[in-house]
Amino acid sequence: MNNWQIVTTASYVPQMTVSNDRLSTIMDTSDEWIRTRTGIRRRHISQGENTADLATQVGQRLLAKAHWAPTSLDLIIIATMSPDSYTPSTAAIVQGFLGATAARAFDVSAACSGFVYALDIASRFIGSEYHRVMVIGSEVLSKITNWQDRTTAVLFGDGAGGVLIETDPEPHLLGQHLATFGDRGNQLVAGQTRVNHQFPPTITDVSPFQMNGRAVYRFATHAVPISIQTALQNAGLTADQVDRFILHQANIRIIQQVARRLVQPMTKFPTNIDQYGNTSAASEPILLDECVRQGLIRRGDLVVLSGFGGGLTVGTMIIKY
Ligand code: ACO
Repeated sequence: MNNWQIVTTASYVPQMTVSNDRLSTIMDTSDEWIRTRTGIRRRHISQGENTADLATQVGQRLLAKAHWAPTSLDLIIIATMSPDSYTPSTAAIVQGFLGATAARAFDVSAACSGFVYALDIASRFIGSEYHRVMVIGSEVLSKITNWQDRTTAVLFGDGAGGVLIETDPEPHLLGQHLATFGDRGNQLVAGQTRVNHQFPPTITDVSPFQMNGRAVYRFATHAVPISIQTALQNAGLTADQVDRFILHQANIRIIQQVARRLVQPMTKFPTNIDQYGNTSAASEPILLDECVRQGLIRRGDLVVLSGFGGGLTVGTMIIKY
């Protein structure tokens, strides 16, 4: 693997916010239940912007911040579980919108671990042929949410975040651990399509989110600390040496439990779940971008990126920012 570094970060969320109180006017829930069980206060919901539109906003911001021409990009990878279409890929649509004519583009599907999975793939591509790579997590989860199902509808939000990476003489990726548990995939599903038995078949709608919340909670609080410990061991580091843990923002209680298991203070675990809810593949790059902009992450800091979710999947990277 060749060495690379994150050049810059950016994020974008749709303008409209929906509070817990507003949700309680359309389903049997309450601000109190949502806040105490998840830490979420509001989420951003798209009004017409699709996944590629959010990603394009992030892409434009990234290119402007780095002063890179769109035509200088070699590769665009988009992590998403809510693509615009089966084909073209969201990444191909974004490539067209950006005018990144020299870039090859494809999507990665690993739900809330998607951003780490995409960054892992990017780090294996980067080198002699690919020097400038864009990696974005983008989701419009509101379009695959069952707004009658209070057990899932209160959890999710829309948004996008991403990074530009470039070859660098110094190693910045210090360790990693990725794992997939396909035998437990039915604990979190969305977008299932049925195959017809008759001919000619009718085109069926895709199914919305369904989740065994307690099982995913148990999985996350067990698998995430193991993944982080394994990645740290691979890097020859300990949790005490880490400056910031950027965890997938699914539930504040999961983050608190991971912090306890790693015996680390919550001050090392920045959160923004109260503002955005669970934005799946977008949650870590949105939080990373906010931390960089607020000066909570500076050049040289040791940062853990860790995601978990549908698949089931888990993925951790140890990065020297
Ligand atoms: N409002 C009010 N009551 C509710 C709501 C709601 N929105 N949702 C469920 N309830 C009720 C239930 O019906 C249940 O009532 P009962 O006791 O009368 O049966 C009660 O609240 C408790 O429900 P639980 O499901 O046991 O609640 P729990 O404390 O487990 O919290 C939650 C549920 C928040 C979903 C939690 O299990 C969780 O966070 N799980 C992990 C989800 C996750 O992290 N997913 C990440 C991956 S997502 C991805 O990859 C895209």
